[in-house]
This record gives sequence, structure tokens and C-alpha cells, in this order.
Amino acid sequence: MKKITVIGAGNVGSTAAQRLAEKEVAEEIVLIDILEGIPQGKALDIWQSAAVEMFDTKVIGTNDYKDTANSDVIVVTAGLARKPGMSRDDLLLANAKIVASVVEQSAAVSPNSIIIVVSNPLDVMCYVALTKSGFPKNRVFGMAGVLDTSRFKNFISRELNVSVKNITTMILGGHGDSMVPLVRYTTVEGIPLSELLSQTKIDDLVKRARNGGIEIVNFLKTGSAYYAPSSSVVEMVEAIAKNTKRILPSSALLNGEYGMNNVYCGVPVKLGVNGIEEILQLKLNDDEMKAFQISANDVADNIKKLNL
Ligand code: APR
Repeated sequence: MKKITVIGAGNVGSTAAQRLAEKEVAEEIVLIDILEGIPQGKALDIWQSAAVEMFDTKVIGTNDYKDTANSDVIVVTAGLARKPGMSRDDLLLANAKIVASVVEQSAAVSPNSIIIVVSNPLDVMCYVALTKSGFPKNRVFGMAGVLDTSRFKNFISRELNVSVKNITTMILGGHGDSMVPLVRYTTVEGIPLSELLSQTKIDDLVKRARNGGIEIVNFLKTGSAYYAPSSSVVEMVEAIAKNTKRILPSSALLNGEYGMNNVYCGVPVKLGVNGIEEILQLKLNDDEMKAFQISANDVADNIKKLNL
């Protein structure tokens, strides 16, 4: 892959740019922000680690969308982050304006790009990006499920004292308090989680995964998580760049899938060079379906508030 633009040179954006550069996911990474000097300084700093980290990726910082032209992938991290006491939905109106503006400007100069949204509230911001870019739905989607499942896997591995690599799971729904961890689809080297832990313990871990973001906000006080979020979006970009067809939970526009219409929600998708190449439809039981519907309806209500 030739070029990846990361919009927003804050905590998530700059850490994502660093990881993308170190992994040589593309020939060039462009970091852009509204603040003058910040993307230039951080890009230069990352690039100056090339001789130590042994990468050949170019890392450019800018305030000018011309420099982002013809990007293959655009990662949107611009926007406000949460502070203690705030839910992701509290960011709705402010971040919708920011995401609309950065997507309009970047999509205009990179008409064939794939947009991955990270800004919160995630699922609604994906809808803003879809509307403002005018791109087809396979090229506009969001990072949430990879992060939520990574958190859940981390908590399970620590509870069982087994490698995180042994754990497989899936989380559906919106990236918010109503996300739906699928315990039935959670296994440890093929062994169902329910055979290894009591229901009470599993419920605790599910709760902790749901609150994984706020736990960090409450420690940091001045912002929200960025190491795991940046790792998660980089995993998605790599699947696209290398056309691996990995199945990763992502926020995708549902039109008929899971009985939903015109709403973004977290579902398992196959990622490749065309972006979302397939949405996988899992068979859900009644409880799971109900929880999924509640979560999707939350997202739909927030989309309505924006009058797009
Ligand atoms: N154009 C470009 N960049 C912008 C704009 C804009 N219109 N508005 C804000 N930004 C930039 C800010 O200048 C800042 O550098 O977005 C960056 C956000 O960085 P942080 O405040 O460090 O926030 P971060 O932790 O990176 O989170 C960014 O990702 O995970 C989500 O909820 C989080 O919505 C938040 C986003």
C-alpha cells in the first residue's frame, strides 16, 4: 500500500501513525491536524526513530489536505476525547461537526480511499463519514469491535492465567454501554468459556469489558485510552493493506443484515483490499438478538439527533 492518512495528531492518531510506520504498513504515512506545528513535530519525531526501529516508511506532518491526496486509507481520529463523567454520546454534536469537516476535505482529494473512523461516538460518526464522503458502504466503517474484544480477551486471559493468544471471542452492537459480548462464541483453545468459569465470573468480565474505556478515563482524567485503540485500528489497516481477508468485528452499515436498516453497528466483517468484503451473519438466540436490537436502536436514535 502506498499512502495512509491519519487525521488527528492527538493521542490516538499519533500512536497509530507510529505503529503504522514501525510495521511498514504503507510507503508513506501522513499525519494531519487542525493545530499548526503539532502534526509536523510529531511526524518528524516518529520518522527520526526510523534508524533505530528499522523502518523505511516516510512520515509526513501537515495542516494541508493537499498533502493527503490519493491516500489508500484514511483513519479519522479527529475530535474530542472523553473526560471523567462523560459518556461517548456526550461528544456527539461537537465530534459530528469535526468529523463532517475532515471527511469532506479528505474524501475530496482521495476519492478512492477507504475511511476507517475511530472518533466517538463511533457508530454515529461512521454514519456522518458515509454521508459526507458519498462513498459506498464497503469503504466507510469503524473501529470498535477489535478494541472491545481485545479488552475482553485480556481480562479472560488474566482471570484464567492462560495466553491471550488462546482466546477467541466476538462482540456485537454499538461501541457503548449497550455493546453485546457473545459469551456463547467465546472459547479458550476451542473450550467454551462456560466450561472454565462460573456464570458470575463471566458476568463480571463482561461488565469489565463494557466499562473498559471508562476505567481508563477515570485513571487518566485528562483524556481517554489510546494505546489499545491505536493497535486495534492498525490491525484493521493491515488486513486491508495486505488483503488478508481477516474476519474482524467492525462497525458496518447494516441494510437488511441482522434485521437492521440504515444503521451502523458492530458485526463480524471480512476485511480486504476493497474494505468490507462481506458482513457475516451469526445465528443469535433470542436474548442476544434483543440485546443487539437495543444497542442498534441507541445508535439509530443518535443518528436521528444529527438531522443529516
Ligand atoms: N481537524 C483536524 N484535527 C482536529 C480537528 C479538525 N477539525 N478538531 C480536532 N482535531 C484534533 C485535535 O487538535 C487533536 O490533536 O484531533 C486531535 C484529538 O486528539 P486527542 O485530544 O488527543 O484525542 P484522542 O485521545 O486522540 O481521541 C480522539 O478518538 O478514541 C476516540 O473518543 C476518542 O473521539 C476521540 C478520538
